[in-house]
Amino acid sequence: MDADDEREVEMRALLVYESMFGSTAAVSEAVAAGLRDAGLEVEVQEVRSAPAARDVAFDLLVVGGPTHAFSLSRPSTRAEAVRQGAGAELAATGLREWLEALGPREDAARRPAAAFDTRVTKVRNLPKAASTRAAHLLRRHGYRLVSRPTPFLVDDTQGPLVEGELERARAWGGEIARAAAAPPTPSSVAS
Ligand SMILES: Cc1cc2nc3c(=O)[nH]c(=O)nc-3n(C[C@H](O)[C@H](O)[C@H](O)COP(=O)(O)O)c2cc1C
Repeated sequence: MDADDEREVEMRALLVYESMFGSTAAVSEAVAAGLRDAGLEVEVQEVRSAPAARDVAFDLLVVGGPTHAFSLSRPSTRAEAVRQGAGAELAATGLREWLEALGPREDAARRPAAAFDTRVTKVRNLPKAASTRAAHLLRRHGYRLVSRPTPFLVDDTQGPLVEGELERARAWGGEIARAAAAPPTPSSVAS
């Protein structure tokens, strides 16, 4: 048995993201770093190549996407992003489509999950944004949210991220790792 076999893997996280201009991709890598800091094994997947959730073994699902028109992107908003300079290949699919294809509720069995987004608006608790929509879909598919939907800010549509957001994203990764590892209590379940 070599060292790798002996190392006990406590928890595995799957992080699936969508990003038209690169900001959500950068936040995703920072969140993944925070999850790894907390001891999790993390697989980061861009949404176009992400496997279906039912085909991967994971204990925590994290999803992130850009806020488009107060929600997750749609084909029309991705087309608009392409008109504003994003790569045309990115318009094919998005996080909404991936989440809508999640399996039946029994597959999730209240597994821990968390959602974040990027956005330009400074309104912190925006009731309608990519992460609030993603959180709704996760709950509907039987996942247990371990964090409130969480925003990270960009200065403008094409970026860059506001200063300090990558550090905040890394810290948030640690927070959700700890929340996912804790036994669920009624008060720990984010709405
Ligand atoms: C078509 C479109 C619609 C957008 N709508 C919103 C919005 O409703 N609220 C907001 O805060 N930002 C909005 N934005 C800005 C995006 O949130 C921003 O481009 C994104 O966070 C950048 O992340 P990315 O580089 O990963 O694509 C919009 C951007 C585009 C292209």
